[in-house]
Amino acid sequence: MEKEKKMFLGVTGGIAAYKMPDFVRLLTKEGVDVHVVMTKNAEQFVTPAVLRTVSGNRVLTADWSHQDDPFDHLNISKEMDAALIAPATANFIAKMAHGIADDLLSTAVLALACPLYVAPAMNPRMLQNPAVMENLRILESRGIRIIPPESGAMACGEEGEGRLPALEQLRDILLATRARKQDFIGKRVIVTAGPTEEPIDPVRCLTNRSSGKMGTAIARAAATRGAQVTLIHGPVAIPLPAGMETVAVRTAREMLDALESRFEACDMLVMAAAVSDYRVASPIAKKMKKTDAPPTLALVQNPDLLEMFGKKKGRRVLVGFAAETEDMAHNAREKMRRKNLDLICANDVSRSDIGFGGAYNELVIIPRGQEPLHTGRLTKEALADIVLDEALKAGAAAFAASGGMK
Ligand SMILES: Cc1cc2nc3c(=O)[nH]c(=O)nc-3n(C[C@H](O)[C@H](O)[C@H](O)COP(=O)(O)O)c2cc1C
Repeated sequence: MEKEKKMFLGVTGGIAAYKMPDFVRLLTKEGVDVHVVMTKNAEQFVTPAVLRTVSGNRVLTADWSHQDDPFDHLNISKEMDAALIAPATANFIAKMAHGIADDLLSTAVLALACPLYVAPAMNPRMLQNPAVMENLRILESRGIRIIPPESGAMACGEEGEGRLPALEQLRDILLATRARKQDFIGKRVIVTAGPTEEPIDPVRCLTNRSSGKMGTAIARAAATRGAQVTLIHGPVAIPLPAGMETVAVRTAREMLDALESRFEACDMLVMAAAVSDYRVASPIAKKMKKTDAPPTLALVQNPDLLEMFGKKKGRRVLVGFAAETEDMAHNAREKMRRKNLDLICANDVSRSDIGFGGAYNELVIIPRGQEPLHTGRLTKEALADIVLDEALKAGAAAFAASGGMK
């Protein structure tokens, strides 16, 4: 977000509401114009007077008698660049999931037209409740961006997942928000995501810990920005995005087949899948028994998908990922050169706070022949938009030459 952007902050009645004055100060220091709306229960944890003082703006509360204009609930929703509900209580998340508008904040939220973030914060057992989980899935399926809570010690004395992320983290996620331009209209984008599975016998396989979250976030962001998207994914346990072609594959060779029939027509290929480098030379037809002698598995190399499509990429934009454990930028650059990529996104998979399986990641994005961009730790959703921005820039010369990306 550039300076003078307007942000809507909805504060609900969770204990973490006491942190919101500090959060507003962090945003105003960045030049963001923050407009706060609170629920009645939020006032148990933080006063409107403090939020008014730090934001420099009138704070709307559930008390209708303090409204200057009967249409405050609609006026406040207009012309916002981003909106965040933080902390979001289990109660407020449930109301949002079901379109309930029984106070000023829940009514105003229904009228918002800008990117909307929700930062749930609650006791870990509350968060794990199937009703809360289901409500969060409903919000996510509607394009609302959930900022995943962190693990740690809670105000109630329990340990677990449910803490509001650090305020600097929330600020960075919001500042990384790009206005959802429709800059991918008319472009065909293929994204691969998740792991592959190479069979050992009918029930066992060689695989890796990729969750598919980064790839699906990129596919979702590209579709939101107007692209016609195909998501080719290995076996993943996460919900798949709607509004695009999804192709489920298992092995690296199946992924290759799915790509080969579609590559010709695409403008951009983002290879976020963690494709197995090796497969078992001769998978066993029947399930191995414990009583059998321990087998020796002979492995053979799988096709190198990035390298194959790098060779025939033409003016298509090709984006690769590099999961590194050491010397990230150097190894990633080397991979980009070998595989003829336009952009490579390196992440450090040796760190436990980012990467495989988690909701957060931190990338070093290197466009061909240019300086690396260090993103800092962000949600995979926020990173997806940055990767797409950089991919568009990296392909700009090719677009200009052809009037399209191909
Ligand atoms: C001391 C205290 C702390 C609370 N903290 C939380 C919390 O962190 N997250 C949450 O979902 N609910 C929390 N609650 C429960 C909410 O305040 C309650 O569900 C309320 O109805 C939420 O109202 P609102 O969503 O309209 O703000 C807390 C309640 C109390 C008494």
